[in-house]
Amino acid sequence: MPAAQTPDPRQHAFVQSILATAHSLSANSPNRASTKAQGVGSAPVNIALSKYWGKRDAVLNLPQNGSVSISLPGLGSETQLKPAVAQDSVWLNDQQLDASAPFAKRLSEFLNLFRTAEVPFFEVVTQNSVPTAAGLASSASGYAALVLALDDLFDWQLPMTQLSLLARMGSGSASRSLYPGFAIWHAGQQGDGLDSFAEALDAPWPEFCVGLVEIDVAEKPVGSTAGMQQTTAACALYQAWPAQAERDKAVIIDAIRAQDFSRLGATAEHNALSMHATMIASWPPLLYWQAESVIAMQQVWTLRQQGVEVYFTMDAGPNLKLLFLAAQKKAVSAAFPGLKVIEPFSS
Ligand code: DP6
Repeated sequence: MPAAQTPDPRQHAFVQSILATAHSLSANSPNRASTKAQGVGSAPVNIALSKYWGKRDAVLNLPQNGSVSISLPGLGSETQLKPAVAQDSVWLNDQQLDASAPFAKRLSEFLNLFRTAEVPFFEVVTQNSVPTAAGLASSASGYAALVLALDDLFDWQLPMTQLSLLARMGSGSASRSLYPGFAIWHAGQQGDGLDSFAEALDAPWPEFCVGLVEIDVAEKPVGSTAGMQQTTAACALYQAWPAQAERDKAVIIDAIRAQDFSRLGATAEHNALSMHATMIASWPPLLYWQAESVIAMQQVWTLRQQGVEVYFTMDAGPNLKLLFLAAQKKAVSAAFPGLKVIEPFSS
């Protein structure tokens, strides 16, 4: 067997402790289900309003701080998973990927945690409706959809919080993509990582809008995982980040519950800029922005001065995500021609 087949022992133990609770594997289950011919799963992308940046444990993918997100319906991943015989095969948007492609390698490493005698390899067929690795959180919807497909294939019937724990192992932000609407990912405190999962924050807000300003959808040169590593290792400012992020998370949760848009928007924008400040202040510096990103930020600030209440957030890429209420949709769309507007709670 190739070396990549052997998962890290701590990761393996973590996954096994979750699977021990699965319906189909439980010794008391009267109805031990067998593997299906195919599993399917789909999940939306999500945008963090208060960000995850930095890991306290890179092996179990445990974050330094909790985060809050909004899922974007209509944008995401749909995955079909089948048992395979000789090796994994990974298809992304109708193209088979070379096993050495970073996307396929990362996926196979994650799948190492779930291989069985009956299913030694997998065929993964994914349709992504977001550009891969462009700061639009395709790994979040991708790993959430994959975990749902695994749950279906093996008929585990795991509860959402357990699925969230598994999705977190693929990509931290994937823990939040299992839920529509707002979600909270708890940082957790335990060394075993079993308390670091996401939950739905059930607070529908029909007027809430997210606008996608696409500056550049090319693959980013430094992925989130490497970017976090660089920031936490080489940035003195980062020391202040986890506490601020936890405070921002609490304020945003309150603002969502109170439907206080001004508080939410201001805190989300400040949170994103603070995260980027830690990246910029690491050495070598990490700057995901392009000149057009800064122009777009200035446009948002100008709009606000003119009385149009709009805020932005940004992830590990040059694109902006605008936050505004439906009453401002016309004014915001006029200022950003081609803006893709998503209304997460509209039917
Ligand atoms: C800036 O979830 O992609 O988008 O856990 O290493 O896969 P890994 O990182 P990832 O990081 C997302 C970072 C972020 C903020 C966020 O979504 O909370």
